Amino acid sequence: MLSLGLFLKSGVKEGKYHKLDKKPSKSAVISIYRFDPESGQDGPRLDKYEIDLDECGSMVLDVLLKIKNEIDPTLTFRRSCREGICGSCSMNINGVNTLACIKDVELSSSGELVIYPLPHMNVIKDLVCDLSDFYKQLASIKPWLRSDQHPKGGKERLQSDEDRKKLDGLYECVLCACCSTSCPSYWWNGDKYLGPAVLLQAYRWIEDSRDDSQNERLKDLDDAFKLYRCHTIMNCAKACPKGLNPAKAIAGIKAKLSSS
Ligand code: SF4
Ligand code: SF4
Ligand code: FES
Repeated sequence: MLSLGLFLKSGVKEGKYHKLDKKPSKSAVISIYRFDPESGQDGPRLDKYEIDLDECGSMVLDVLLKIKNEIDPTLTFRRSCREGICGSCSMNINGVNTLACIKDVELSSSGELVIYPLPHMNVIKDLVCDLSDFYKQLASIKPWLRSDQHPKGGKERLQSDEDRKKLDGLYECVLCACCSTSCPSYWWNGDKYLGPAVLLQAYRWIEDSRDDSQNERLKDLDDAFKLYRCHTIMNCAKACPKGLNPAKAIAGIKAKLSSS
């Protein structure tokens, strides 16, 4: 069975300092959360890596790849597309949840960059947290087109320009979970509250003119915990690296419910 450790910033010990042999002209110290619950490691630690910025790409993911390829192959993180599309490289960088591949390397005034996994999640290893429950919640809203009608002509399901525009600000979501893991309501009630990412996805299907199950979708969401734990704190909109506004989508669901 997978062994997990709940990510908390408190109690993280100082770890190894990987210094370069020669001091480069443009160096940075990258602090990275390291934890392998399956190894019997005595709690998480923060390892430091000195790197030569002149020999590295400009994004945080470039830094992580450089460290993994050249200094420490045991460092573990998710990534795939490198273009902000797959949503897999989400992590907490200098205190902000974001995607490492589209985040510029910006050092603090002391020349540091500090990288943690997404907050309030169980950690599988280092920067990889367990998103199983997040995906189960996504599956629960049935994120696919539901219609018993066959498309006219047996081909495409057409949509007017006006209906298509209703999906703007929703379809761009890459399911990175940056918003949900920055939401205090999701931190405390993540087992019952669906959270901003999944609710934005739910709204995306409610708003799709080609879907025939709007009423059923709304009925499923009309629940004190699934939906109404959102208290409009707005962390989700601030966190989204794609510039989306899940709080607005949640307000849209509530408005449709109150008028139905
Ligand atoms: S607006 Fe709602 S979903 Fe967004 S952070 Fe606040 S409580 Fe969470
Ligand atoms: S709404 Fe934004 S932050 Fe939330 S999962 Fe989608 S892309 Fe990520
Ligand atoms: S690697 Fe795909 S979003 Fe960053």
